[in-house]
Amino acid sequence: MNQYILQIIYLIASVTFIIGLKFLGNPATARKGNLIAAFGMTIAIFGTIFLYTYDENGEAKHLHNLPLIFGALVVGTVLGWIAAKKVQMTAMPEMVSLFNGMGGACAMLISIIEFQHLTENPNLDFASLPVGHILTIIIGMIIGSISFAGSMVAWGKLSGNVKDKSFGKQQFINVGLMLVILLMAYMVVFNGGENAVSLFYGVLVLSLIYGVLFVMPIGGADMPVVISLLNSFTGVAAACGGFLYDNKVMLVGGILVGSAGTLLTIVMCKAMNRSLLNVLIGNFGGGSKGEAAGSSTFEGSIKEVSASDAAILMRYAKKVIIVPGYGLAVAQAQHVVHDLELLLESEGIEVKYAIHPVAGRMPGHMNVLLAESNVSYDKLVEMEEINPEFNTTDVVLVVGANDVVNPAAKTDPNSPIYGMPILDVENAANVIVNKRSMKAGYAGIENELFYKPKTSMLFGDAKKALTQLVSEIKALG
Ligand code: TAP
Repeated sequence: MNQYILQIIYLIASVTFIIGLKFLGNPATARKGNLIAAFGMTIAIFGTIFLYTYDENGEAKHLHNLPLIFGALVVGTVLGWIAAKKVQMTAMPEMVSLFNGMGGACAMLISIIEFQHLTENPNLDFASLPVGHILTIIIGMIIGSISFAGSMVAWGKLSGNVKDKSFGKQQFINVGLMLVILLMAYMVVFNGGENAVSLFYGVLVLSLIYGVLFVMPIGGADMPVVISLLNSFTGVAAACGGFLYDNKVMLVGGILVGSAGTLLTIVMCKAMNRSLLNVLIGNFGGGSKGEAAGSSTFEGSIKEVSASDAAILMRYAKKVIIVPGYGLAVAQAQHVVHDLELLLESEGIEVKYAIHPVAGRMPGHMNVLLAESNVSYDKLVEMEEINPEFNTTDVVLVVGANDVVNPAAKTDPNSPIYGMPILDVENAANVIVNKRSMKAGYAGIENELFYKPKTSMLFGDAKKALTQLVSEIKALG
């Protein structure tokens, strides 16, 4: 009877995951989506703990090690709760990487434990083991450990503690290492024999090394693609766990994470104009950081604008496009930017926001940020849609964005962001860029836009600068 109830709970949980994912597609419903899916996960966990039974020698048994399970649940819940409460919005991608790495580590450990269960019999005949079972174990372990090691490196990089590092012919080494891993895995599954155990642990070590080597050289602007790829890896590894335990909800959850992560990776690749193959072998966007910031070789000079002059420019414009970037999130200027938008609109000026797919530090970062201050969703216009509009725009106000408006992506083949589509703000009549200094953005490269004749720099923290801009515009009446 318990088994039937458990299957119904798994079914309900799976449905909540799908509804949750659907709701996550829109900032207005995202919070609700998260809660619905979390509810599904909670009933699946407690259902498994209290209702799961398994047959050992014909006798039904419940899960054992309950104190350990509850201990881990309490520790994980408390740590996760505190981390999520404390995290700054700008540090979210690091946290996502860390949590994703934990998922990968779980899948890796499940595979190791299940392999140990299989091999603990000293008279084991490897050939008699079901191929599908051992194949699932080793696939889960390879993907889980790559995801774990890669996510840890990504976490270090996003928090600024690990620097990009690549060495010559890195992509060949990565491809070679992957081939060795696959060959050894093949030998474990199909040749078995007495070497199987040492080969298995060899595959584990090489997969961890691969995870590090694969993420280490990826630099600057390309991290978003890698993060979503690692997410999808963790999903696939978790789905392998679902197969191993014949656990439907784990399988559905893993498949949903895996497929959503894969779709996001494809969208990100498209947004960054990168090929998926190059991402997989860790051969893109790394190494060279281009020109160091502050040592400009560009023609033209920096033109500074005061808040009052910027206010005049914007107050007498017909159309203004605001380009939000990472600096807007750092300054928590989402509310004042909304005030600015409402003020300009009350003067009959058309205002839109141009949203670059990798602006900020996580997918949808700008949408989430602006939704927080109740900016209407239809004012947020995606890059492909807004780009043709810049040449009919009087003023573009770039707030804390840098890489996503850097023309080097189109003009400099040696730039690490070369090929990435950008917002064509240069086509507008005037460009005002607000940032605190001439420092580079995430990709660590100079930006020629700041030296163009149409561009003026409004230096200062975004919140302070925009607050001043708002009061100057109000003063103009
Ligand atoms: P960035 O290129 O990182 O530039 C942000 C700019 O904001 C900096 O140049 C900084 O200049 C300025 N800034 C920082 N704090 C500020 C403040 N308080 N007030 C005003 N300005 C401030 O940002 P972006 O244009 O949004 O591009 C995002 C970059 O991050 C891309 O390279 C992208 O690939 C990468 N990335 C994105 C993601 C996702 S999924 N979105 C994930 C990881 C990495 P100052 O220091 O001079 O103020």
